[in-house]
Amino acid sequence: MPKHITPEETERQRAFAAKLAEQNARAAQACGSPPLACTRTYGCQQNENDTERIRGILSKCGYGFTENENDADLIIYNTCAVRENAEQKVFGRLGILKHMKESRPSMITAVCGCMVQQPHIAEKIKKTYENVDLIFGTHALYRLPELLYKTITEKQTVCDNAPSDGAIAEDVPVMRKDGASAWVSIMYGCNNFCTYCIVPHVRGRERSREPEDVINEVKELVRMGKSEICLLGQNVNSYGKDLDRSVDFSDILRAVNDIDGVKRIRFMTSHPKDFGDRLLLAMKECDKVCPQLHLPFQAGSDKVLKDMNRRYTKAEYLEKIERAKRELPGAALSTDVIVGFPTETDEDFEETLDVLRKAEFDTIFSFIYSRREGTPAAKLKPVLSDKRIHENFNRLLEVQNEISKRKNDAYVGRIEEVLVEGVSKNDAGMLTGRCASSKIVNFKGGKPLIGKYVNVRITEAHTWSLNGELV
Ligand code: SAH
Ligand code: SF4
Ligand code: F3S
Repeated sequence: MPKHITPEETERQRAFAAKLAEQNARAAQACGSPPLACTRTYGCQQNENDTERIRGILSKCGYGFTENENDADLIIYNTCAVRENAEQKVFGRLGILKHMKESRPSMITAVCGCMVQQPHIAEKIKKTYENVDLIFGTHALYRLPELLYKTITEKQTVCDNAPSDGAIAEDVPVMRKDGASAWVSIMYGCNNFCTYCIVPHVRGRERSREPEDVINEVKELVRMGKSEICLLGQNVNSYGKDLDRSVDFSDILRAVNDIDGVKRIRFMTSHPKDFGDRLLLAMKECDKVCPQLHLPFQAGSDKVLKDMNRRYTKAEYLEKIERAKRELPGAALSTDVIVGFPTETDEDFEETLDVLRKAEFDTIFSFIYSRREGTPAAKLKPVLSDKRIHENFNRLLEVQNEISKRKNDAYVGRIEEVLVEGVSKNDAGMLTGRCASSKIVNFKGGKPLIGKYVNVRITEAHTWSLNGELV
């Protein structure tokens, strides 16, 4: 059995939420509207899903919501620590908040998530940004009602970034994003300790939710009208290893596939070392699992993979990709790559390019290595200059852009079913959505189509997206 927070603790948090809701209802009576909260998310889908929980909690505490920070009585930044630039963005925002707070001293500002789970960052914020009222880490999310109550009533800076005791908090209210798509975290944390990565340090050890909890959440989502389910975990292939019964990720896929009303199932992320035939078979047999596979390889050189503690070789990785291509013909492949890991030489980098050419991914997410305090790789001296790393990074993009465009060209003329997500950012007259293999498709259409599945004939391919017309 995974450890859960106790029913008494859940009740305690409900009581704090009720007290805040009472206060906020009084404020609403006095000024005509409830206090407004504004949330901003930096980071991965798991963080987005956490923000949905934060908004769920805030709603129970009687807050309304605004997208505009200038109208907000409470601003919460949910942060990411995976690369330095993610942290720099937040520090930049905190500087701006400092000025906003001078003119609106009653506004409450909070920073939460992966970044502040690191003690040295929480300390830096406390010292440098006195305007921040509340700091809470990833493991304290469910305690938000109590923390917020303390911040407001005691009028002092509150900080809770204690490490996880391994307990899972079910029963946290969730306010979902609009549309037909929904995230479901099936597990938390990571045990892999890739040497460059901060995630295991800020998210704790792997904890799988009970299968019934996952299935019940999906059923509830279907009742709410959601039909595309994205199952989340840092390494979904490890699902169930910590449970005291025999269940793995392929069992979850099959169980979700059996739920009436679910139309599409996506998942991320798979770790290549654990990716095998059982999962491939489930993907093949489950008709609702989308034809896509995200399998991060990070680097092509066996030496670098070893230094990264990835626990597979280039040959093993490519063999798994070949098997995936054979078993899931037509599925879109994507990956994550890091350029400039400290021990990577130019020769090592050539191996990364070789993987790109052989695997022929549809899409890659590429990153320049970012030194993360507290990780083993942070102690290594880089062998290549920053300039050289940037040159290599640009070469990587060049090689991949040609492959991505070629892969997208093959879609021209096809009719794809697209789940419409919203209005295209680049062209207001266009809608944007994703086809089954997760490619972005832009096409002309009216707003009532948002949240619906439509058939689109692909007319034009770009490197990052497709254009089409409604059929
Ligand atoms: N659990 C997932 C994703 C982790 S974070 C996985 O293992 O694939 C998403 C991506 O960020 C990683 O795949 C990696 O490519 C990148 N990343 C993580 N730490 C990084 C660092 N220190 N510098 C640059 N990129 C990093
Ligand atoms: Fe980070 Fe590796 Fe875990 Fe992914 S598998 S979250 S890259 S430690
Ligand atoms: Fe995600 Fe960033 Fe945290 S990638 S798990 S939000 S460090």
